[in-house]
Amino acid sequence: MLSKKQAKIFFLGGTILFMLIFVGISVHSLMVGIPENTNASEITDQVRLGKQLWDHNNCMGCHTIMGEGAYYAPELTRVYSRRGETYIQAVLTAPEGWGFRGRKMVKYNFTENEVAGLVAFLKWMDKTNLNGFPAPPSMPPPLQPVN
Ligand code: HEC
Repeated sequence: MLSKKQAKIFFLGGTILFMLIFVGISVHSLMVGIPENTNASEITDQVRLGKQLWDHNNCMGCHTIMGEGAYYAPELTRVYSRRGETYIQAVLTAPEGWGFRGRKMVKYNFTENEVAGLVAFLKWMDKTNLNGFPAPPSMPPPLQPVN
């Protein structure tokens, strides 16, 4: 059995050790992990412009990004590889507001530069390392025709 003094040392030693580990991994995340996983060096002025437009136009009122936002319209974290640049440009410049499948997107009057900024933002977002998020959808195998 530990004496009172030994228990005190054990408690304080354990607390200090794990606090140091916690501070160490937090600093590592801030200095190395986040810049690496977000490709911080690739955040250009165009990407910043796109992010500002994203916020000011409340895209998250309908869409999610990194799972955050509303569930009215598609998740956009990986939309750049899913749809490609031309498709995204078409969505953002559709004269009547995009939406052929029932739900409609707001019609925006973005300039060419603003469209390029939003595309740059979505392209940057596409490359962030999110540890496998979003998971690929689990789809049942397609039905086979019966002969
Ligand atoms: C009023 C709700 C609404 C808002 C606000 C909105 N969208 Fe959309 N968006 C939609 C809907 C609905 C679709 C899907 C339409 C379809 O494909 O039929 C869509 C589709 C898209 C797509 C194509 C996604 C895919 O996988 O096909 C992109 C890219 C997109 N929106 C970007 C944006 C951006 C950027 C903003 C902000 C500037 C924005 N949206 C604001 C409703 C919205």
